[in-house]
Order: sequence, then C-alpha cells, then structure tokens
Amino acid sequence: VENSDDAIITKNLDGIITTWNKGAQRIFGYTAAEAVGKPVMILIPEDRQHEEPAILTRVRSGDRVDHYETVRRRKDGTLLDVSLTISPVRDQRGEIVGASKIARDITELRRAREALQESHHELEKRVMDRTSSLREAIAQMEEFSYSVSHDLRAPVRAMQGYAKAVLEDYGEQIGEDGRNYLARIVRSGERMDRLVRDILTYSRVARAELTFRPIALNMLVEDIINQYPEMHPPRARIMVDQRLGTVSAHEASLGQAISNLLNNAVKFVASDVTPEVRVYSEERGEWIRLWVEDNGIGIRPDHQARLFGLFQRVHPDKKYEGTGIGLAVVRKSIERMGGRVGMESKGAGSKFWIELKRAL
Ligand SMILES: Nc1ncnc2c1ncn2[C@@H]1O[C@H](COP(=O)(O)OP(=O)(O)OP(=O)(O)O)[C@@H](O)[C@H]1O
Ligand SMILES: [Mg+2]
Repeated sequence: VENSDDAIITKNLDGIITTWNKGAQRIFGYTAAEAVGKPVMILIPEDRQHEEPAILTRVRSGDRVDHYETVRRRKDGTLLDVSLTISPVRDQRGEIVGASKIARDITELRRAREALQESHHELEKRVMDRTSSLREAIAQMEEFSYSVSHDLRAPVRAMQGYAKAVLEDYGEQIGEDGRNYLARIVRSGERMDRLVRDILTYSRVARAELTFRPIALNMLVEDIINQYPEMHPPRARIMVDQRLGTVSAHEASLGQAISNLLNNAVKFVASDVTPEVRVYSEERGEWIRLWVEDNGIGIRPDHQARLFGLFQRVHPDKKYEGTGIGLAVVRKSIERMGGRVGMESKGAGSKFWIELKRAL
C-alpha cells in the first residue's frame, strides 16, 4: 500500500478518513497526520459533494464502484481528475465497517484524451476541406472538357463537309489516289466526331442535375430496343423478362446506361453468330439488379477490371467499332444515382449488371 502510485485511503461509514498512504499524500498534498480523522469531504469540491452520500449508500449495501471518473480537490485548492475505485471493508464478522478507496490521478490521461479528440476534429475538418476543393476541381474539369469537346465539333464538321464537297464536285479531276485520301479524311472526321460526341455524353452524364422518379424497367428497355434496328431480328434477338421491376432513377441517365449495355451486347459477337441477349432482373433487398447477358466473344478475366474506365477497349479496333467510352458512361451514370455496376464473363458470353434502388 505504501509503495503504490495511487492514493489508497480507507474511511468509515460516517465518511471519516481512517488510513492514508504515501500516494494519497503525493496526490492530494495532505500528510497522513493531517488527513486521518477528517471527513473525506475535504477532498471533494463543492459542486461534487452530492456524490459522497451516493457512494456511501452503495458501499453500505455491499456494492463496489469501479473506475468512476470525477474531480477532486488538493490541499492547495487546485482540482485534479481522478478515477475512483471504492469497495466495502468488512470486519471479522463480515459486517461492513467502511470503505477503501483507490484514487488514480488521470489529469494527464484526460488531457491526452482531449488532445486526441481535438486532433480528430481537426483531421475531420481538413478531410472535409480537401474533399470540397477536390469536388470543385472535378466540377471545373468536367466543365472544361464539356466546353472543349463542344467547341471541337464545329471545326471537325467543317473539315468533313469540305472534304466531302471536294470529293463530290472535283472527284473526277483529282484521280484515284486523291479520292482515296479524301475518303480517309471523311472517315477520320466521322471517327473524331463520334469521339467528341461520346465525350460530350460522358460529361453530360457527369454534370446532369439528377431528379429521381420511379422508372418501370420494362418500358424503358422496350423503348430503347425500338430505337435500334440492329437489336431486332434477323440481326439480333433480345429476350426481355416480363417483370423487371421499377427502380428509382434519373430517366435519361438510366436510359443511356442501358442502351450502352445493349449496344455492346449485340456488337461484341463473333462474325458468324447471331447475337442473342437476355435481359432479366433480380431483387436484392432494397436493390434491383438488372442483368444483360449475351452470347458474345466474352472478356478475359485479366481485362475485366479496367473495362469501366474511360477509353478502355480490349478487342481489336478493326473488327469492332467504338471509342471505349460506353462503359465509363454506364458506371458514371449509375454511380451518380447511388448504384453499382459489375460484370461476369467466363469464356464465352458476358453478363453485365447495374444495380439501383427499388422504387417504393
Ligand atoms: N458485351 C461485351 N462482350 C465482350 N466485350 C465487351 C462487351 N462490352 C464491352 N466489351 C469490351 O469492353 C470495351 C469497353 O466497352 P465500351 O462500351 O466502354 O466501349 P466500346 O463499345 O468499345 O465503345 P463505345 O461504347 O464508346 O462506342 C469494349 O471495347 C470491349 O472490348
Ligand atoms: Mg460500347
């Protein structure tokens, strides 16, 4: 007891101090001679004096008080934070005659805790600041790419248009090679125009104000299929399950995403195969997962991770046209609506999915 760093004190049931160790002297400033015989109240600040009767009541009924954090007063009047453990002391017959009290000075501990909390707040604030400036930067980038791509379209169109005009009006005069070169200019122009248009779609999806409403998936999917001749027999067969369900979504963004998936499904197919696509859905708690499954050329596992990034294409350009923006648009639009996207492909065929909140 004498060697303990903690204050170890006993008191009787009237709250009078009966023993007092070295630790108590160090922590509270009173010597044993000064403290023994005095009420423990001398250690308790005015605004905490109500604690003592409550503690005594518990001790009398044989209960312990464990690691009770409170404030006590030193001889010089200064306050300190302590953690108290109080247990009943019994005499030989087992009757409770007082209490032993171990007081640990936790001023340092409390200070450290507060400092930790403060730096935690500071950190949180910093993260918030950074996040908001990042958001701003991203918004500016999107604004920038939107206006750049928008302004790029006019000159490309002009080049394409004049190359076509020369081809038509002077084609005879400039000979075979010249016509060939002009045709290439027209084709490159078309490709660039498509690229610019796709980038515009991407930034539109990224920037659009999203308003949500319940969208019946069957209607939307039918509408999309009707817009594309390449999705109809004999060129392709798309089988749509009857009950796809209703999700809460921004209609234009969702339509864009689904049409990109369907376009891929009928596009990436071996040349001697008629595309067969199945569209179905699955309820997963409050989510609906819409699947688009094809009988196409599939995607190697090591390529699958990057597909949803911008400009990622994993099949040869020559055979399959495209800019590599479609799936990036799918992901951007679905994620902006709070949903998720994914895919599976094992050898032949691929299955892409998007997941959105079910409409209530
Ligand atoms: N259903 C699919 N089957 C096989 N490969 C696919 C399928 N969907 C996408 N891919 C692969 O993922 C790549 C990225 O698809 P994405 O839709 O982003 O681009 P894209 O179709 O090539 O061009 P875009 O859609 O912009 O015109 C494709 O180039 C293709 O290699
Ligand atoms: Mg595509």
